[in-house]
Amino acid sequence: MKLSITQTLLLSLLFILSFTIQNVESAKILAVFPFPGPSQYILVQPYLKALAAKGHEVTVINAFPQKQPIANYRDVLVMEVHENYAELIEQGKIKRNKWDAMTFLAGFFLNLTETVIKNPGVQKLLNTEKFDLIILEVLHTDAWYAFGRHFKAPMIGISSFGIDPVIDELMGNMSPLSYSPLITAGLTERMTYLERLKNVILSFMELIHVRVRLIPAQKKLIKTYLPHIKDDIWDLSTNFSIMLLNNHFSLSFPRPYVPSMVEVGGFQIHYKPKPLPQDIMKFLNSSSEDVIYLSMGSNVKSKDFPPEKLKMLTEVFGSLPYKILWKFENPTLPGKPKNVFINSWFPQPDVLAHPRVKLFISHGGLLSTSESVYHGKPMLGLPVFYDQQMNIKKGIQSGFALGLNFHTLPREEFKSSILEMMNNQKYINNAKTISNIYHDQPMKPLDLAIYWTEYVLRHKGAVHLKNPAQSMNFIQKHSIDTVGVLVAAFILCITIVIIAVWKVFKFVLGKKSIKKVKVN
Ligand SMILES: *[C@@H]1O[C@H](CO)[C@@H](O)[C@H](O)[C@H]1NC(C)=O
Ligand SMILES: *[C@@H]1O[C@H](CO)[C@@H](O)[C@H](O)[C@H]1NC(C)=O
Repeated sequence: MKLSITQTLLLSLLFILSFTIQNVESAKILAVFPFPGPSQYILVQPYLKALAAKGHEVTVINAFPQKQPIANYRDVLVMEVHENYAELIEQGKIKRNKWDAMTFLAGFFLNLTETVIKNPGVQKLLNTEKFDLIILEVLHTDAWYAFGRHFKAPMIGISSFGIDPVIDELMGNMSPLSYSPLITAGLTERMTYLERLKNVILSFMELIHVRVRLIPAQKKLIKTYLPHIKDDIWDLSTNFSIMLLNNHFSLSFPRPYVPSMVEVGGFQIHYKPKPLPQDIMKFLNSSSEDVIYLSMGSNVKSKDFPPEKLKMLTEVFGSLPYKILWKFENPTLPGKPKNVFINSWFPQPDVLAHPRVKLFISHGGLLSTSESVYHGKPMLGLPVFYDQQMNIKKGIQSGFALGLNFHTLPREEFKSSILEMMNNQKYINNAKTISNIYHDQPMKPLDLAIYWTEYVLRHKGAVHLKNPAQSMNFIQKHSIDTVGVLVAAFILCITIVIIAVWKVFKFVLGKKSIKKVKVN
C-alpha cells in the first residue's frame, strides 16, 4: 500500500502527538532530604539524579553537598543540622521506656523540622520560587507537608523504612496488625499470641503519641513559619499523591497496599560493576582464602568500639583462615593481624559483588540488608537500633542470616557463628534464592519510581488515586462506629432474650410452686 503525502504527514503528526502524551514536560522538582544521618539521602540520590538526567530541574534541600556539579541538580544546604548530631546519637542509645523513646525521637525530629524551615536558603525558596512537584521523606517532620499546599504542587512521599501505622493513616491503607509488625518492635510477620498483643499495644501507642505529642508541636511550626496556611494539618498530611516504599516482598513479606503505595525496595542500587580499588585487589590476590566483609554502617563507628571489644575482634579475626575487609575509621588498628585489611571506606556494592566475599558482618540497616540480598550474600547481624533488629530477625527467618547481641558479643559465639556461616552452604544457598526472587521483577525498582513520579506529573497530582479512607477518621475507617452499633444491638438483643427467658422461667416455676402448695 502506498500512502499519499498528506496521509504520511498526518501519520507522523499522530506519532509525534502520541509521543508527547507519553512524555512529560520538564518539571521543577523540590526534594527535601536534610537529614544529618546519611542513609536517607544515600537512598534517594540515584532516584533524584535519574530525574535530573531525564531533564527535570531538581532542587534538593540537604546536608551533604555534591562534590561535582551535576546538570539540572541544585543543592540547597542546611549544614547546621549536623550540629549536636553525634551527641544526639549518644543520647539515643540511652535505654528508655517505649513512650519516652517515642518522645525523644519526636523531639529530635521537631528540632530538625524547625532548623530546616528557618534556614535562610530554605526561606528564600519558600518566598521566591515555584515548583511543580515536592518529594519528601515521611519521617515525623509533618510541618514540611505544608510545602505541597504552599507551592500548590503535588507531593510524593518516600519512606526509607517501609511502612508503619502512621503512613497507613496518611495513605488510607490498612495493614492487619496481626502480621504487620511495628518497625521498631523487633518482630517479624510471624508472631506468637503475646507478640501480636505487644504489636497491637505498641502500634496504638505510636498512633496516640503522634496525635497527642508530635502533631500539636508540628502544628505550631506551621503557624509560626507558614502562617498563611490555614488548612488542618491532617488535610496537608493526607495529600500525598504517591508513597514510594523502600521495601519489597522478597525483603519483607506480602501484604495489602492501596494503589498509591508502591514498593521500590532497593531502588538505590544502580549497580554497574567496577573493579575494586588497587590496594584491596592486591590484598585479596595475595592468597586465595575466602573473604569476610565487616561494616557497621555510618552511624556506629568501629573506631569508637570499647578497647576490649576491639581486642576481641582482632584476636578472633587473626585466628580465622579467611581474609577480612573491615570498615574501620582510624588509620591504624593496634595489633592488626596480617589477614585483616582496614579502610575508612569501601565501595560496598563492589565488595559484596566479589565472588570470594562469602559473608557480610553488618549492623543490618536497611541499605546494607537490601544490598546483601541484591548480591546474594549471607549476613551475620549485630543490630544496634531502630529497624535493624527486625531486618536481622527477618534474615534469620529466611535462613540467610544469624544474629548476635552487639552489646555483649561473646567471643566464642562470635567465632563459632562465623565458622558455621562460612562452612555451611545453606546460608549462601538461601541468600541466592531470595536474591533471585528479588531480581525477578517486571521493571527495575528505580524505573518504577521514575514511572510513578512522572505519572503524578502527567496527571496533575493524580487525585483519582486518593482513596476515601484518607478523609475518614480512625473510628469511621475501621468501621468501629457501624460494627460497634451492631455489636451493641446484638448484646442488647441477647440481654433482652435472657431476661425474657428468665422471666418466663420464673413465672412457670412460680406456678409450679403454687400448684405444689395447693397439692400439699
Ligand atoms: C536544636 O537543639 C539544639 C540542642 O541540641 C539547640 O542548640 C538548637 O537551638 C535547637 N534548634 C532549634 C531550631 O530548636
Ligand atoms: C493538595 O495537593 C494539591 C496538588 O495536588 C494542592 O494544589 C493542594 O493545595 C493541596 N491541598 C492541601 C490541603 O495540602
